[in-house]
Amino acid sequence: MSRFFTKKRESSYADAGVQNKKIPFAVVEAYKGIRTNLSFLLSSAKKNVVVITSPNSGEGKSTTAVNMAIAFSQLGERVLLIDADMRKATLHKKLRTENGDGLSNVLAGMAKLEDCIKKISDNMFFLPSGRVAPNPSELLGSPEFENLLATVSPAYSCVIIDTPPMNVVSDTLVVAPLTAGIVMVVREGVTQNSDIKHIISSAEFAGIKILGAVINGVKESSNRGYKYKYNSKYYKNH
Ligand SMILES: Nc1ncnc2c1ncn2[C@@H]1O[C@H](COP(=O)(O)OP(=O)(O)OP(=O)(O)O)[C@@H](O)[C@H]1O
Ligand SMILES: [Mg+2]
Repeated sequence: MSRFFTKKRESSYADAGVQNKKIPFAVVEAYKGIRTNLSFLLSSAKKNVVVITSPNSGEGKSTTAVNMAIAFSQLGERVLLIDADMRKATLHKKLRTENGDGLSNVLAGMAKLEDCIKKISDNMFFLPSGRVAPNPSELLGSPEFENLLATVSPAYSCVIIDTPPMNVVSDTLVVAPLTAGIVMVVREGVTQNSDIKHIISSAEFAGIKILGAVINGVKESSNRGYKYKYNSKYYKNH
């Protein structure tokens, strides 16, 4: 099982952590580092769909997902970002766009996929979560979701799926087996070792590949983790 480890500094930017010109250089570089590692892993896996998740709520999944999509689009790659967190959709707010019709509507047969995908920039496209659905796990586990992935996968260089916390609800467990695997976001000082062990055993049980981990919210004063070798060591300590 291959893994990569990148630390991202705690930042003080006010706009929900989405990359813009005001964001510190070190943060942008950290996302580029994740992009490089993830590109390598996806090309080795010969798959281009990846799930971003974390053990618990509020650890930085959506922030990481949107910034990863931006980082890939900056390479000139055509990227689709999907908000598959139908319980607590936030990506549309981070991207300052509307939710409206989206994934849940498409899966329920109430809207066409092509009508729901929004163009965010030249290379970046976004499928919002759609209207609140009573049965997210069933929708995501349906053949329609598999069909949707089969449609978008060849149409984009990379598809990034934001999901709910894996230790809290089962949605990620039904989505991730259809993809190259998960990137696990953990938040320094918040995520417990037991949370990480739980996600690893759930992934193994469900046949989900863990592509790597992003350690989010590393304090600027921390002297650990800015180099790849230290990040690897940090993981072993876990
Ligand atoms: N590195 C960071 N520095 C500062 N704030 C951050 C950082 N990462 C995330 N945040 C903030 O923490 C909050 C939670 O982040 P985010 O929405 O990405 O988490 P999440 O794991 O998707 O949460 P949920 O489980 O509720 O979907 C947001 O307000 C976000 O702006
Ligand atoms: Mg989220």
